[in-house]
Amino acid sequence: MIERAPDSDNRPRAPFHVAAIMDGNGRYATARGRTRSDGHRAGATAARRIVEAAPDMGVDILTLFALSSENWNRPPAEVRFLLQLLRRFLRLECRRCVERGVRLSVIGSRRRLPARLVAMVDHVESATSAGRRMQLRVAIDYSSRDAILEAAARWAASGEPAPTREGFARALGATGALASPAPEVDLLIRTGGEKRLSDFLLWESAYAELYFTDTMWPEFAPAELERAIADYRRRERRFGLVPRSDPA
Ligand code: FPP
Repeated sequence: MIERAPDSDNRPRAPFHVAAIMDGNGRYATARGRTRSDGHRAGATAARRIVEAAPDMGVDILTLFALSSENWNRPPAEVRFLLQLLRRFLRLECRRCVERGVRLSVIGSRRRLPARLVAMVDHVESATSAGRRMQLRVAIDYSSRDAILEAAARWAASGEPAPTREGFARALGATGALASPAPEVDLLIRTGGEKRLSDFLLWESAYAELYFTDTMWPEFAPAELERAIADYRRRERRFGLVPRSDPA
């Protein structure tokens, strides 16, 4: 697990988890008379820049939505292209992650993924498993509702009594190479101008702060991540309680 220095009051600090729905690759490209594949390629470059910058901004866990289970219904050529791009991304990121102490893991279903991609996922997860500086989670063929259903089925099969929230978070996190509880999202970013969650980390985002921007993902630069985090730090997270400044 990611290790963190304690807060000033000596309580262990919860990991800071940023998640991103990387929307707008297609519109970025078509607005420039380029192909959607060009847009996805530019999106992968933007993702690399964000992964590189995030640890220095205090991000402990970064989850990127690379391919939703619904995206599978796009034209087969686009899906094929995205799967190839993802394999290439994992191959190129592997060494960089090892060098930078980043642990990379993939969430989502592996059932439909090409064998070569699954082999690459296994390789990268094992090669980067010692990384302690940041955890990078890439969601591929991911549906939050499916993940919740699968965790519920795992729980039912275990024969345990009705789950607690903590117990269920553990069942939800027990996928792929991950054996730690599904981490709560602190800041959820969506680029591309739409304002919806699109079946991404629904359980984990129960108290996430949401940040929507019109910037298309290929143009989402580290400086905007910094602005999003600064915006998040100015918000008061009440978790259903009353404002701290209100009189009792
Ligand atoms: C949504 O844009 C984006 C995707 C379906 C793919 C996201 C993939 C990447 C950013 C590249 C690969 C990712 C990694 C981590 C290497 P869209 O195509 O729906 O854009 P549109 O709404 O403008 O059509």
